[in-house]
Amino acid sequence: MEDVKRGLTSSPKFLLSKYFYDEAGDKLFQQIMALDEYYLTDCEFEIMSTHRAALLEHFVSDCDLFHLVEFGAGDAYKTKALLEYFLAQKVAFEYNPIDISGSVLDQLAEDLAHSLPQLSFAPMNLEYFEAVEAISLKSTCKKVLLFLGSNIGNFTKRETDDFFGRLADILQPGDQLITGFDLKKDPAVILAAYNDSKGVTREFNMNLLRRINRELDADFEVGEFYHHPVYDPDNGAAKSYLVSRRKQQVSIGAIPTTIGFEKDEPIFMEISQKYSLEDIENFAVRTGFRITENFFDKRKYFVNSLWELN
Ligand code: AVJ
Repeated sequence: MEDVKRGLTSSPKFLLSKYFYDEAGDKLFQQIMALDEYYLTDCEFEIMSTHRAALLEHFVSDCDLFHLVEFGAGDAYKTKALLEYFLAQKVAFEYNPIDISGSVLDQLAEDLAHSLPQLSFAPMNLEYFEAVEAISLKSTCKKVLLFLGSNIGNFTKRETDDFFGRLADILQPGDQLITGFDLKKDPAVILAAYNDSKGVTREFNMNLLRRINRELDADFEVGEFYHHPVYDPDNGAAKSYLVSRRKQQVSIGAIPTTIGFEKDEPIFMEISQKYSLEDIENFAVRTGFRITENFFDKRKYFVNSLWELN
């Protein structure tokens, strides 16, 4: 609520993309991942499947087991390709999916119990850093952190440095981190991924206005806004906006306040940053990590970058 108030009373206006993921938003994101235009999920699934043996070689250690810790696990669609393989190889590990959505975690736990009954797993409904610290308290074994899907792309450059820097502070030497980064590529391919022909991405954005209506007693008329995604190939920023079709006022009962919109005034909704390999190298070096290996899909659209703490 504070974030919504701050965002809509700022100039220019913005909302935070972390609020996309209520129950309806979770479902819409699942639909996005299944879209032909949304190549990210397919690329990362390909990487996880193709390079699972090489990844496992990097993960095994002298300890009795390793912790495979996943930030924002969701339905763990891509991770399951790894989990199945690791189980078949009979390596000792514990899977620790972390998600801020309790309902998503419950669903995942139920699914894993059925689909991979041999898997030892401990879901954690905690904030990412708290979860890492909780694991360190109960176990001295190695941790491998997964931050997949280019979720990192929702962070600004500053936030990205802070995020990796804080991880460097709480990890132990030998711990590893795998981050999925969406790479810079043909701008038309990127733009299509955020401007799909079925309009699911538009609905995904509109859902946040609907959520504000539901939870903060607001009266957004979603038809009075249009979705406008852009991609800047210079800096790699894919951004999405909802733009007001006309001069209008929206009241938000829970604050309470009335927000005025000019005709064609945008609300900045989300950044989905795209990276060069040099950008990634710079993030690692600046925050105290080194790159062990970069894993690519066939088209080199996406990279899963394996880092170790210096
Ligand atoms: C979940 C943040 C990786 O930015 O590509 C998908 C979210 N937004 N379509 C992304 C998203 C619009 C997605 N991430």
